[in-house]
Amino acid sequence: MQLSGLGYFGLRTRRVDQWRTFAENVLGLSAQTTEDGLRLRADDRSWRIALHEADTEEFGYVGWEVPGPAELAAAAAELAAAGVEVTHADDQLLRDRDVLDLVHVADPNGVRVEIFYGARTAVTPFVSPTGASFVTGEQGLGHVVFSVDNYAATLRFYTELLGFRLSDFCDLGRKRIAFLHTNPRHHSLAFAGLVIEPERKPRKDVEPGELFHFMLEVDDLDTVGHAYDRCLDGAAPVALTLGRHSNDKMLSFYAITPSGFEIEYGHGAITVADPWTATRVDGTSLWGHRRPSKPAPAVPPAAAAPEGAKA
Ligand SMILES: [Fe+2]
Repeated sequence: MQLSGLGYFGLRTRRVDQWRTFAENVLGLSAQTTEDGLRLRADDRSWRIALHEADTEEFGYVGWEVPGPAELAAAAAELAAAGVEVTHADDQLLRDRDVLDLVHVADPNGVRVEIFYGARTAVTPFVSPTGASFVTGEQGLGHVVFSVDNYAATLRFYTELLGFRLSDFCDLGRKRIAFLHTNPRHHSLAFAGLVIEPERKPRKDVEPGELFHFMLEVDDLDTVGHAYDRCLDGAAPVALTLGRHSNDKMLSFYAITPSGFEIEYGHGAITVADPWTATRVDGTSLWGHRRPSKPAPAVPPAAAAPEGAKA
């Protein structure tokens, strides 16, 4: 199976109005009202992110694109042959997603994975309220990052069944993050899960399948800087300060969305080309990406001057 890239994703939220303001004023996406919420545009596609009014804040679904009907049929057959329950979309769902055809499955963490072709290109141009221009095209929308329950099963599902290739890994304590690509974007998907079992059961503060963050890339560093300034001026809380990632070299900051999870907003990531050899990086960032609430380390007291030393 060869996926073209991340096509779209959808979220359920109580805070559709706050999302509109956040999407337009902070991120520079254009918003359109729908029957049950909002759709956001980032490029010539009719939509890229959907917000569905609900009594919760949670990830809804992610849409991975294939080139056409033959690839979709092959993907559905491969998944079914592997014992995965494959559901074909009805007409209502195809209208909702604005695609020609779609199947959906659940990944090992319960994340709803949709595979589609035939997204609609809008005839009206995308006009960003902030003048942002997003890097999409053959690299797809950006990336999504999840927490997972069973790291090994998730890795098998995405690499052996959905055809993702590994870009690299990062070990953080007992957790490992896997970064995966399906086009020149360094990673369209990443997930973090325990690879060393703790002695005690971990606190369930993050549910498997929960979205850690999504990423949008813009074509100009100043667009990132202007968005960062708007956050510092109070438009949205900064979750991680400006910094550069060690693996994809993205220069980005993280803001907290109205739903509570984070968005990475960045520029200047490297691209990858297969064959690619996956390595392990020591930490996620070369510099920056600090929690702004973290108190600065105390300045150590000046060393006592040795006896008899002159000032
Ligand atoms: Fe990211």
